[in-house]
Amino acid sequence: MADMTLRRYLTQSALDPNLIFLLEDIASSCRVIANTVRNGAFEGNLGSTNVTNIQGETQKTLDILANDEFERICSNSPRLAALVSEEVEEVTWLKEPEAGDYLLYFDPLDGSSNLDVNLSVGSIFAVMQVQSDGDRNVLHSGRNQICAGYALYGPSTMLVLTVGDEVAGFTCQHGTADFQLTHPDMTVPAETAEFAINTSRYRYWDTPIRRYVDECVAGEDGVRQSSFNMRWTASMVAEIHRILIRGGVFLYPADSNNRKAGGKLRLMYEANPMAMIIENAGGAASTGLASIMDIQPTGPHQRVPVILGSRSEVERLVTYHMSESSAEQ
Ligand code: AHG
Ligand code: MN
Ligand code: MN
Repeated sequence: MADMTLRRYLTQSALDPNLIFLLEDIASSCRVIANTVRNGAFEGNLGSTNVTNIQGETQKTLDILANDEFERICSNSPRLAALVSEEVEEVTWLKEPEAGDYLLYFDPLDGSSNLDVNLSVGSIFAVMQVQSDGDRNVLHSGRNQICAGYALYGPSTMLVLTVGDEVAGFTCQHGTADFQLTHPDMTVPAETAEFAINTSRYRYWDTPIRRYVDECVAGEDGVRQSSFNMRWTASMVAEIHRILIRGGVFLYPADSNNRKAGGKLRLMYEANPMAMIIENAGGAASTGLASIMDIQPTGPHQRVPVILGSRSEVERLVTYHMSESSAEQ
């Protein structure tokens, strides 16, 4: 049987051809970004600009280049109405919106603090639809996502995609640059002994997060009665990919230091797409108190607390949050 390329996979599905064009444009953007990242040192693209984005973060040169590639390549899609990017404050409208047109939400380069140290980075994206002719509202909840995915620029470049049911992983073949299906039907392993959180923020954490991590760290002697491992790559794409392959839970909670901002990670182009991928792979995604994809957004760059991964661990964390919030009442 012929190799299952991304194109073959998409054309065998019942997707609208215009959505297939868009997904192929996204894949092309990621292919180009992978090369730009890989050649960053030769082309003078490592390091930072002196520009601060809407997040208050200094943009890396590659953040901007990756954003520009998404914009340039995806603008070809005839039914793409608007772009919502981490790196651009306002929504970019490409056409007068008509019902059914597509809206693309993306983090062009995720984990960009890893660039200068040559560690894994990625891109994250989700697609939703315009609800009626002339409707310029882009603030729909994650349940309205019709597909979501990420590209991981690691030792190999991968594209992991869900178009509403299964999660499929494609690896970019060196030479042909084809994305070939290498990881069909990805599922989050149910059992896990691994957690991912930036523990340098321990002093800011709320009780439920401290309790969870303390219990993991206590190992065999603690209430969990088993030994846990910890990983933190500072690149959400790499963490989520590891969880899809090996199980585990990823946390970027709201804490006393980031609560005013709502947390660290952005709802529309980080938390929502990853929540859809993880849920479609059999895992769960929560803020601790609510399901991420049920949040009604208030702004394109809104931040939220994020807990996602193996269902049993996320449920345990939700229980800890619920008992804390009922104790406060
Ligand atoms: P971005 O590079 O798009 O701004 O996102 C970085 C995010 C995410 O990828 C990662 O999980 C987290 O920030 C890392 O945060 P710390 O700096 O606290 O480790
Ligand atoms: Mn990011
Ligand atoms: Mn980013």
